[in-house]
Amino acid sequence: MSILKITLIVCIFASDRSLSVRKKFPCGPGNACACKCDKQEKVSMDCEGRGNLKLSEICVSIGNMTSLKAGRNNFGNLTALDLKGCENLAEIYFNFNQIAHIEREIFQDFRHLHLLDLSRNLLQVYFKGWDASFLPKNLHTLKINGNPIPDNANFPNLDSQYYLNKLISDGVSNKALNVSRLAYLSLSGLNLQTTCQLIRINNETFSLSNSLKVLNISDCGVISITAGAFEHLHSLEVLDLSYNRQLELWSLVNITYGLQFTRIRFLNISNLVSRFSSGKQIKLPHTCYLWNTTVEDVDLSGNMIDMVETNSFILTPPSLQILRINQNKFRFGPYVLQFGCLGNVTAVFLSYQNHGYNPLIYVAENSKRYSGPTEELYQMECPFCNVSFLKEYANRTRDCTFIENGVLDLFHLKLPVRMERIIANDCALTFKINYKYYFNPENSSMRYVDISGNIVESFTGYIGNLPMLETLNMSRCYTSSIGQTSLNYISLKTLRLAHNDIGAQLADSKRSNIFNMLPSLQDLDLSSNGITVLFTSTFKELVNLRHLDLSNNNIEHFDVNINTLSHLLQLNLEINSIHTLKKEVRRKLEANENDRSKFSINLQKNSLTYDCNNQEFLHWLIQHKANMVGFRGYIFISSDEKSITCDKMMTDLDRLESRCKSYVAVIIVGVLALATFLSLIIGGVIYRYRWRIRYFMYMSKKRFFGYHILPDYTVIQNYKYDAFVSYAEDNIRFILDDVIP
Ligand SMILES: *[C@@H]1O[C@H](CO)[C@@H](O)[C@H](O)[C@H]1NC(C)=O
Ligand SMILES: *[C@@H]1O[C@H](CO)[C@@H](O)[C@H](O)[C@H]1NC(C)=O
Ligand SMILES: *[C@@H]1O[C@H](CO)[C@@H](O)[C@H](O)[C@H]1NC(C)=O
Ligand SMILES: *[C@@H]1O[C@H](CO)[C@@H](O)[C@H](O)[C@H]1NC(C)=O
Ligand SMILES: *[C@@H]1O[C@H](CO)[C@@H](O)[C@H](O)[C@H]1NC(C)=O
Ligand SMILES: *[C@@H]1O[C@H](CO)[C@@H](O)[C@H](O)[C@H]1NC(C)=O
Ligand SMILES: *[C@@H]1O[C@H](CO)[C@@H](O)[C@H](O)[C@H]1NC(C)=O
Ligand SMILES: *[C@@H]1O[C@H](CO)[C@@H](O)[C@H](O)[C@H]1NC(C)=O
Ligand SMILES: *[C@@H]1O[C@H](CO)[C@@H](O)[C@H](O)[C@H]1NC(C)=O
Ligand SMILES: *[C@@H]1O[C@H](CO)[C@@H](O)[C@H](O)[C@H]1NC(C)=O
Ligand SMILES: *[C@@H]1O[C@H](CO)[C@@H](O)[C@H](O)[C@H]1NC(C)=O
Ligand SMILES: *[C@@H]1O[C@H](CO)[C@@H](O)[C@H](O)[C@H]1NC(C)=O
Repeated sequence: MSILKITLIVCIFASDRSLSVRKKFPCGPGNACACKCDKQEKVSMDCEGRGNLKLSEICVSIGNMTSLKAGRNNFGNLTALDLKGCENLAEIYFNFNQIAHIEREIFQDFRHLHLLDLSRNLLQVYFKGWDASFLPKNLHTLKINGNPIPDNANFPNLDSQYYLNKLISDGVSNKALNVSRLAYLSLSGLNLQTTCQLIRINNETFSLSNSLKVLNISDCGVISITAGAFEHLHSLEVLDLSYNRQLELWSLVNITYGLQFTRIRFLNISNLVSRFSSGKQIKLPHTCYLWNTTVEDVDLSGNMIDMVETNSFILTPPSLQILRINQNKFRFGPYVLQFGCLGNVTAVFLSYQNHGYNPLIYVAENSKRYSGPTEELYQMECPFCNVSFLKEYANRTRDCTFIENGVLDLFHLKLPVRMERIIANDCALTFKINYKYYFNPENSSMRYVDISGNIVESFTGYIGNLPMLETLNMSRCYTSSIGQTSLNYISLKTLRLAHNDIGAQLADSKRSNIFNMLPSLQDLDLSSNGITVLFTSTFKELVNLRHLDLSNNNIEHFDVNINTLSHLLQLNLEINSIHTLKKEVRRKLEANENDRSKFSINLQKNSLTYDCNNQEFLHWLIQHKANMVGFRGYIFISSDEKSITCDKMMTDLDRLESRCKSYVAVIIVGVLALATFLSLIIGGVIYRYRWRIRYFMYMSKKRFFGYHILPDYTVIQNYKYDAFVSYAEDNIRFILDDVIP
């Protein structure tokens, strides 16, 4: 009991203090479980897979938890005593517990229980005569999938469950599912614990489920569907038929027929063909009835579609907004010229064309194969398919033309006026954009284009009439050449060019000005482009740039003039060879800061120089460490080529400073001492040999000139004699006989 009190205190405390923080703490018998306070004061106890726990012990310690997860515990049959104490729970998860029998009165005191998970047990829910009356009255959601399915199985009669709204069950037969109040029914075999075998769906199958809003029968082994199958589901909004791989595209005739009478919004008809079938074609009758539905979002992915019959696009439902056609095999055909017929479509997803498959899947899928009905069995006369209707309807739709006798107008490729997003990444399509192409209409609403993961080696032309384009993603396109005027999009805010090859072009001063026509650009990603040199003026016109990503290049000097970039706040230079950042760059980033946003730099994995010359920068780094992304991971290289961690740098920097200071002193003193020493030596030598030196000088002068010119006699008049001769007594004869004459 003391444990219980503690958990309560913690929980109240947690929910009082910070409602948004999820607080976890141990709880339950012997603190074996984990409790969690959720946002809306929902408190849940997780005792899943705890081995030897007894349900009765859990229920004694449950306190005022609202949710109990107790799956995978081997509880076995349930009696009323087991659940004593759990009466206030709102959610119970008893999945995978070997429960074969549940006592009749067990839930009679449960007033709040609205979710009960009994999936993966041994209950006889699909046996004839199974009685559901033991279930609590307020139940809103029930999971019974993964219980044993006998031959001749029946769908359980849950009519006593007045409030039951959501059911997750196995799909045991196509006999009428008597669930008239359900809004949500999932029989999906994609959930691995569920077995779904509906095989043939006819007008009986859902005839007693007319409240359904969501029907999930994906991966249910369906091989045929009759036209009336969904006719009664007047409230149906979401239908998931994906992964029924024997249906084939032609079953869409019968599928879409019934949907005319529903309120369908989302239709998932992806993966309706075998992964190993050859190319499929969408034909007019397949989707004809779809035009008369209210569908807004259709998923046709993974259907091996390589061609669309000409004029099929004319019957695009006016309500359709999103078209998903990923993982197909589209080839070029006249239908491409009828994109304009897509009417109100705002987004097209067509990624992963030419997708590769794992061969091991073949084994798994092939074993399940048995063939469904052929195309002939889906013949129906669709009233919207007739030529006069198509012509008239095309005429009513802007930018949509009926193609007759193969007459094509290749020069007016049209985009639907409302189209805002095209996502066509990783299609491995190879093309060059060396021409100028202008889509119609001129005021296209296109905002977002993602063609990353294709092969566009050169983009020197121009794709035009996209005045609203805000995001262009051309990453991973092997692009090595971009024209000076190719990137000319007045509203472009985000440009992703990561993982391309434009480093060489940017290093060529004549060709590097490719960003001069993007006045609105805020976010430029040039990571992984083999950039080594950046010219000072490359980015100067990007006056609205906020975020520049140059990571994963080989830049050594970031000598870019950013004085015009008054909004630049985020600079990513991770994984380059940067040694330092110029003062101008730093000052500008500081100046760009405002109250709402601080600047940030990422200099991880560079070779920042750690020496006396770079001290100012190092101090600046530490001073602005809050602005440095991953600062603790920065690496510094000292003058002796050793790498130094960030922590070491911070503790050592003061010492570096004093080391640098003492170097200066040592040098000055040394120079002075040397000078003094040398002058003393030289002075001494000169003094010691002063006469010799004089003599030597005279002699050398004499040797050079031969004689010594005396100054002008007129100036110096106080000479009495011209010469004075001194001699030794012995040499008197020489003087008298030789010198004087
Ligand atoms: C738990 O229950 C007690 C009384 O039963 C109540 O006072 C308290 O507010 C409850 N706490 C939470 C978090 O619901
Ligand atoms: C559980 O209930 C089933 C069906 O009522 C019964 O056959 C089985 O013996 C029970 N198991 C135990 C352990 O009581
Ligand atoms: C559906 O269930 C209701 C209530 O139990 C019952 O009256 C009705 O006969 C059932 N319908 C069918 C077709 O089984
Ligand atoms: C249908 O159920 C599967 C398996 O639970 C799930 O993955 C899928 O998202 C569901 N579809 C819809 C439309 O909810
Ligand atoms: C189902 O279709 C058959 C023949 O098409 C028809 O006789 C029967 O009345 C239909 N059942 C329902 C419930 O619509
Ligand atoms: C398609 O629906 C029509 C009309 O209900 C039916 O005759 C035909 O058999 C259905 N096709 C298949 C293969 O169920
Ligand atoms: C179009 O659908 C409506 C129901 O929404 C239906 O009444 C009408 O018959 C359908 N039109 C045609 C030509 O089938
Ligand atoms: C459609 O179903 C497939 C397979 O279940 C799933 O992968 C896909 O996400 C679904 N589409 C949407 C839009 O949910
Ligand atoms: C687009 O939708 C509007 C109503 O939302 C409709 O009137 C119009 O016909 C649709 N346009 C096309 C081309 O389908
Ligand atoms: C085509 O359909 C329209 C209206 O749905 C109808 O008036 C016309 O007769 C049909 N034409 C042909 C050739 O079937
Ligand atoms: C298209 O519509 C216009 C008037 O809206 C009409 O003059 C013209 O004949 C129509 N063209 C066709 C091929 O129906
Ligand atoms: C595009 O321009 C045409 C006239 O040229 C106008 O009718 C239409 O409403 C415009 N569409 C958008 C989405 O601005």
